[in-house]
Amino acid sequence: METSKKISLTGIQPTGDLHVGNYFGAIKPALELSKTYDARYFIADYHALNSMKDPSELNACIRGVAAGWLAAGLDPDKVIFYRQSSIPEVFELTIMIMAFTSKGLMNRAHAYKAAVQANGERGEDPDAGVNMGLFTYPALMAADIVLFDSDVVPVGMDQAQHIEIAQDIAQSVNAAYKKAILKVPQAAIQKEVAVIPGLDGRKMSKSYGNTIPLFTGEKELRKTIMRIVTNSQGVEEAKDPETSQIYSLYKLFASAEEQAALAGRYRAGGMGWGEAKEELFQVMNRELAPMRERYNAIMADPQGLDAILARGAERARPIAAATVARFRKASGID
Ligand code: ADP
Ligand code: TRP
Repeated sequence: METSKKISLTGIQPTGDLHVGNYFGAIKPALELSKTYDARYFIADYHALNSMKDPSELNACIRGVAAGWLAAGLDPDKVIFYRQSSIPEVFELTIMIMAFTSKGLMNRAHAYKAAVQANGERGEDPDAGVNMGLFTYPALMAADIVLFDSDVVPVGMDQAQHIEIAQDIAQSVNAAYKKAILKVPQAAIQKEVAVIPGLDGRKMSKSYGNTIPLFTGEKELRKTIMRIVTNSQGVEEAKDPETSQIYSLYKLFASAEEQAALAGRYRAGGMGWGEAKEELFQVMNRELAPMRERYNAIMADPQGLDAILARGAERARPIAAATVARFRKASGID
């Protein structure tokens, strides 16, 4: 592991089956970072516990998401890839930084505020349904980050506040002990990541039920693509590729030449939506088929997957232990 490179760290919530939107919006850009950074990725399974109480569903999600990242190209020999729950130091550090985390900071966190507001609108107790996991989520996330000496944390806009909270906490610790105990992380906000449209043209999201699953079988993939909502234009009519989600999705998978050629066919007329969908299926399946094969192979070998994650945890723990030791020493709990 090169130490001269800056460290990036990304947490992945195992909360559902991966879809094409996750792939282009999160997985691909995050994996790109391993070219320039000393990259660390982890499955944030204790974060998921806040909302997922079905054990078999949570377990399947953890494995499915881990296998998904590996199938998409994460190289566990080149980066550190582990489960949050395998690193006890995460929880040790969380408790330590709690002493430096003002309650007001948690009160102001967006996710908690949104829950309180929704309760208010329903006329319920402000804290109805809010567990301490949700309330203290930003403190656990801060521990995830500072434990691994992260320089940059690539996240979507919605997570920016969590990074500011992590900065705040790290600075409070360093100020208290007049020493750089914890590295103050920077957010790398991914602004330019396109919003991938779903079957109905809205943002692809599991909450809208409009997703194209990333690792579905070939037959299912074709069936799903055939469900993409279109307008009523007939076969002969000229079509505008730029307003069709079929073409938006096609662009993600096709070469520049293929895109130009197909855009021409849309504009010329004579191609129906069914054919446009078939063209989409062909390019999508071309890219996803090898990934699907890798995914199925990994899922068929749960022990192999566990071994990969265990090896990642083994490499992660000494880094985590060093941070906790620094903190203990500085704090007098030595
Ligand atoms: P969902 O909306 O399906 O619940 P998540 O919120 O779990 O997805 O998203 C996980 C990651 O994938 C996030 O980084 C998110 O920004 C990204 N992502 C999800 N859907 C899309 C999409 N349609 N386009 C671009 N990025 C997306
Ligand atoms: N909260 C992040 C999300 O919902 C997941 C996450 C947990 C995370 N811990 C992290 C992301 C640490 C970056 C760094 O997407």
